[in-house]
Amino acid sequence: MTEAPARGYTVLARKYRPRKFADLIGQPHVVQALQNAISTGRVAQAFLLTGSRGTGKTTTARLLASALNCMAEQRTGVEPCGECASCLDVARGEDLDVIEMDAASNSRVDDIRQRLESIDTRPARGRYRIYIIDEVHMLSASAFNALLKTVEEPPAHVKFILATTNPEKIPETILSRCQRYDFRRVTLAEISQRLQEICTAENLAPGEGVLRMLAEMAEGGMRDALSRLDQLVAFAGEKASAEEAERVFGLVGRKKLLTLLEQLAAGDAKSGILFAEQVFDSGKDVAEVLAALVALTRQLLIVQASGASDAQGLDIAADELPALKRTAALFGLAGLVYLAELLTECRQRVRRAAFPRVVVETTFVKLAMLKSLESLESLAARMDEAADQALVHSNVKVPEQETVTHIDSTIENHKQAPAAPAAPVRGRAATESEERAVAELKKKFRAR
Ligand SMILES: Nc1ncnc2c1ncn2[C@@H]1O[C@H](COP(=O)(O)OP(=O)(O)OP(=O)(O)O)[C@@H](O)[C@H]1O
Ligand SMILES: [Mg+2]
Ligand SMILES: [Zn+2]
Repeated sequence: MTEAPARGYTVLARKYRPRKFADLIGQPHVVQALQNAISTGRVAQAFLLTGSRGTGKTTTARLLASALNCMAEQRTGVEPCGECASCLDVARGEDLDVIEMDAASNSRVDDIRQRLESIDTRPARGRYRIYIIDEVHMLSASAFNALLKTVEEPPAHVKFILATTNPEKIPETILSRCQRYDFRRVTLAEISQRLQEICTAENLAPGEGVLRMLAEMAEGGMRDALSRLDQLVAFAGEKASAEEAERVFGLVGRKKLLTLLEQLAAGDAKSGILFAEQVFDSGKDVAEVLAALVALTRQLLIVQASGASDAQGLDIAADELPALKRTAALFGLAGLVYLAELLTECRQRVRRAAFPRVVVETTFVKLAMLKSLESLESLAARMDEAADQALVHSNVKVPEQETVTHIDSTIENHKQAPAAPAAPVRGRAATESEERAVAELKKKFRAR
């Protein structure tokens, strides 16, 4: 599974590049399909591997090339042996029959022509001449045309493996001639587990919660998680603590994030503004902090929607569940949906904003206002009730009120917790101006 370190230090992402399909995590659908194709001998002329950064596309391209040209007589299924001259050369990127090209730095038509000149040459050692074109979306229009001609009718000994993060930038003519494989983001649990295995192999012992933090920041990219582990160890050593990780990556601890959300749920706008001030003044990475808040909100949504009594299957640490349940209940399901939407929007806007601080502050204030909007909602409900009664007397029909709640698809599978019965609202009748103001606010609230 590991590459011998060349000279000096090899970064973890390279050192632990999978050398077998079995070591590739999170992409069982891709592995299964490729293995079927190889074992039945129905290998397409051209493959397109797509998916977000660091999910295993280049790795898979090399594995597939190795599997196709492996020289070992004895192999486990279709796995490349990893030991024959061909496998070793491919892994080093030095095989004569496997031509790797990075389209990001070779995007011109001449670059492609030059590479394809040798296309009729028989493979030197293996069964196939295999062209791996990475970041293929970067090719110029004329380079794509040059490629198209060959991809359409390559010699029988030629295979193409194209990889990209941006499939939408690839001409339809090329797409339609490739067998396409979509790589998924790797899950939190899979990344955490992989990090743990690598730490054990490397004699690293990061503190409680550190690996999870790295996994959360990686947002589904295994390479990103490993690069951050490298960075952390470089700064804080082999036993880096959660506090050190927070400092290195400019994060805010989860306890503080939960406290912030509790304060906002209680309508405490001032604490929100103070929090924003601290984030900006201490030089923390605002985008990272917001990403952590979004991730936390997603967990709160799952906890609230599933009515979970244990953390199983929720991708949540068991000891955190009580605190998460408490905060989730403060917002309620609709409040959490609003929270998730507002934070996601804030995170997107912060990147482009001339004054990111204002964007963050107003978001927090809006969130703190949720509580007062909610009491307005109950006031509105009371008025609706009064209006209904008036209408019953005058015998006029009203259209059913729309209630739209859209919830993250991840929680759809979970059982919905029974909602608490709404408390009846009693009191004086609203004045006309109150009524107008409330109707206005209701409209705004629903428009969100
Ligand atoms: N699915 C995976 N399973 C195990 N390790 C992985 C996986 N994906 C990525 N890695 C790790 O990340 C490193 C980089 O992966 P790779 O180069 O295959 O990503 P990629 O999808 O080609 O990314 P990019 O879009 O940036 O080119 C690998 O060397 C490996 O250490
Ligand atoms: Mg790649
Ligand atoms: Zn081999």
